[in-house]
Amino acid sequence: MGAHTFPQDALGEDTVVIKPDYMGICRADAKEIHGSRDVPEDRGPLFGHELVGTAVFAGAGTGFQEGDLVTLNPNITPTRTTGFAEYVFVHGTKEQLDQAVVRVPEPDIRDDIWMPEPFACIVHALRKLLDLTNLPSLQGKKVGIIGAGCAGLMFAMYARHLGASVSVFNRGETRRAFARDQKILAEGEIHPLSDANSQAHQNQFDIVMVAPTIATTELLETAADMATDGAVLFVYGGTRKGDSFPVGQADIDTVRRQERIESVEYLGKQLDISGAYGCLREDYEEAFRLHAEHPHDFPLEKLTSRQISLDDFPHLVMDIAAGKADHPGKVLIKAAIAS
Ligand SMILES: NC(=O)c1ccc[n+]([C@@H]2O[C@H](COP(=O)([O-])OP(=O)(O)OC[C@H]3O[C@@H](n4cnc5c(N)ncnc54)[C@H](OP(=O)(O)O)[C@@H]3O)[C@@H](O)[C@H]2O)c1
Repeated sequence: MGAHTFPQDALGEDTVVIKPDYMGICRADAKEIHGSRDVPEDRGPLFGHELVGTAVFAGAGTGFQEGDLVTLNPNITPTRTTGFAEYVFVHGTKEQLDQAVVRVPEPDIRDDIWMPEPFACIVHALRKLLDLTNLPSLQGKKVGIIGAGCAGLMFAMYARHLGASVSVFNRGETRRAFARDQKILAEGEIHPLSDANSQAHQNQFDIVMVAPTIATTELLETAADMATDGAVLFVYGGTRKGDSFPVGQADIDTVRRQERIESVEYLGKQLDISGAYGCLREDYEEAFRLHAEHPHDFPLEKLTSRQISLDDFPHLVMDIAAGKADHPGKVLIKAAIAS
């Protein structure tokens, strides 16, 4: 690493520069390092997209002010630099920036930090699920969730808030223990993934969320076995171009990225396959509202398992991408405080 002069020439009328205080490492960052993620051209790579920081420069045409406490929505424009940096440059029209840079209405968020973007994606996904299925809420529904990663745990928080009972199934013990120890899930809400195939959990769930790193055929089969006849299988975990489920029926990558719903038949059961992708500014606003009004239901701060410095980041992220390191919950990078 060397020292570089600040790129003054990049400070245009259409530019917001954010100095992040905290950045989050997402599974998508690791996937982009080893090339196992299809990058959509309209929004660019995700590498370094979870952050909370201060606008330190706001061009005259941006609608922002220096000093604004902000976060990023990476689903709007590819004309931005990575969030894993001391400064992040976002360029766009006023309308684009209005979506891509989101004001944080919690002045104290840095005292007990949580990452707005992954929660906004969950808020978006559940809103889509209710829209697509014409359900007013999840009151009385049995929701099964595959994966107790950050996504699975936030789904559990929100589904419970909407009146559902939740059962989360996770392959490894580390994330199961994390969910229990942090009191994010109660003892009876978290199970080994192998239990999903037991009689007690087969044909039980009205909705099954599939939220692991990759929505493999095997995991989708497990989800479909857990589902009741007429249930919804909601695909949130990674899919790639050409993936289908049941094999040769629904194109699950398109279903997820274009947020559709499709009926399929699986071993004599009728299932609706649906999914969601990304989020909008209104999802951030709803995420902030939920967190402020229902802190007990949304203990998002408890998802943090570790904080590191930006200097430690390259080594750790390469280890995560290589499968040599794996931390439950969220690993956060805390920027150095200027002296
Ligand atoms: N649709 C969207 O808008 C959107 C937004 C954000 C993220 N996502 C997707 O959601 C995925 C999960 O995100 P996250 O933040 O929850 O990641 P995470 O915190 O890293 O958790 C990954 C989860 O996947 C499980 N897993 C990995 N490989 C598995 C396998 N072979 N079999 C069974 N379980 C496996 C892990 O279980 P173990 O503990 O056993 O390893 C863990 O529960 C991401 O990879 C991404 O594709 C989608």
